[in-house]
Amino acid sequence: MAYNYITAQEAAEMIKDGDTLGMSGFTAPGAPKFISEHIAAKAEREHAEGRPFKINIFTGASTSDHLDGVLARANAINMRAPYQNIPDLRKRINCHDVHYFDRHLSDMAQETRYGFYGKIDYAIIEAADITPDGEIILGCGVGNVPTFAHMADKIFIELNAKLPHTLLGMHDVYMPADPPYRREIGIYKPSDRIGSPVLKIDPSKVVGIVRTDSYDCVKPFTEPDDISKQIGSNVVRFLINEYKRGGIPKEFLPLQSGVGNVANAVLYDLGESTVLPTFQMYTEVIQDAVLELMKKGKCTFASTCSMTFSDKVEEELFGNIDFFHDKILMRPAEISNNPEVIRRLGVIAMNTALEADIFGGVNSTHVLGTKMMNGIGGSGDFTRNAYISIFSCPSVTKGGLISNIVPMVAHADHSEHSVDVIVTDQGIADLRHLDPVQRAYEIINNCAHPDYRPLLLDYLKMGKGGQTPHSLAAAFAFHNAFNETGDMRNADFGKYC
Ligand code: COA
Repeated sequence: MAYNYITAQEAAEMIKDGDTLGMSGFTAPGAPKFISEHIAAKAEREHAEGRPFKINIFTGASTSDHLDGVLARANAINMRAPYQNIPDLRKRINCHDVHYFDRHLSDMAQETRYGFYGKIDYAIIEAADITPDGEIILGCGVGNVPTFAHMADKIFIELNAKLPHTLLGMHDVYMPADPPYRREIGIYKPSDRIGSPVLKIDPSKVVGIVRTDSYDCVKPFTEPDDISKQIGSNVVRFLINEYKRGGIPKEFLPLQSGVGNVANAVLYDLGESTVLPTFQMYTEVIQDAVLELMKKGKCTFASTCSMTFSDKVEEELFGNIDFFHDKILMRPAEISNNPEVIRRLGVIAMNTALEADIFGGVNSTHVLGTKMMNGIGGSGDFTRNAYISIFSCPSVTKGGLISNIVPMVAHADHSEHSVDVIVTDQGIADLRHLDPVQRAYEIINNCAHPDYRPLLLDYLKMGKGGQTPHSLAAAFAFHNAFNETGDMRNADFGKYC
């Protein structure tokens, strides 16, 4: 199958104002990197000449600065879904330059197929290689590309010379039928394969191949600080206690782990545990720590949507791919994050919160209730369906000016009905089987920073009855105090009586 080679600039010139693009990948890996830079340049030219130019961008999750960053700086994005984490894009979202639709990652592909978001004009797909039949060996992230390729009118391929063709066999590309014809997703253990190792596309849609040459540009992790290490060790302590008392089966259960330094610290700590057995992962991203755990034999298999490794670790993987080849399987987001499978496998979910409230509500997305940070990502997919759902965060942030344990979360992403355990550097609050007031004492006494415990206990006593004794007038006293004085410790409940 012979496709044409074109330049990234030629591809970008074909994109028109108002087009919708579906991008391959999940986090930086697998996301296109070159055509987007030329689209941004085109947008700047168009704007300079007084013409409108904005496009809609759908992805698997976040991308990299080569995609979201350049396009945000060029003010070239109209609508964006379902997740992002780039500071320049965040600024555009928070001042309404970009219409951001923050959606559960497992929903995006099926809802695109249902037609909820309109048509896809172009899919841009990063490839490690193309088979003689014109099928695509994907890169290090899958995301929603099977659906975007299926729905798009036209396709561009970015063929990345940095990606080895030996990635063949590490993907499991599968698109479920839509209701009323959907059948069960036949995954009974993380390593079960249900789809194809390659992405099959309609060759007549391919406009051209752009040659590229770049690693995935994931920043190396910083050494975890003392707070992250303390949180990591508390999460592992919880898992060990739970395992010892028989709350987790002796075979152990697959783990999901969120992104960031705390998540990485938890995984490193798991690797050190001599009590916990070897384990597998059913997750949406695997980070650097997982490769180390595989080398040690502690993690024996990972089902994921993306290998979010820093460039150095990615290079190590490619150099030693035979060892990892049968230990990692990358799947589309609607399968890696599939609620049916997460619940069947009994996944233990570990995610990070911005803030949690004393009754167990969690805010993962909105700083002080209004400013979008990143998005809900896969945290809802996993939390709601997990065997045990754990949220962690530092007890305070900004040197203690902000308490991450508050009377009422200023934005609710996960309700107390889905949150089982909260962990901070201070300790562990196990909320299972506790009523709201019991939960409040568990969280305040075990997770809140000592500076904030008396204030939180005062708030609890102010409650005017009811099963969940909030004082609605004073519920945001912490947030108001921060906005007015720059320090939540100045919360004055008297003002609200
Ligand atoms: N109020 C205001 N600001 C807060 C805050 C709070 N309660 N908690 C944290 N912040 C600030 C931090 O100070 C930091 O600010 P800075 O950028 O100026 O330094 C920033 O928010 C990020 O905090 P940090 O502790 O570094 O966050 P993180 O990297 O551990 O990420 C989330 C935490 C919640 C933002 C991140 O996990 C996320 O986006 N989660 C949602 C998506 C998800 O869970 N996906 C699931 C699996 S991949």
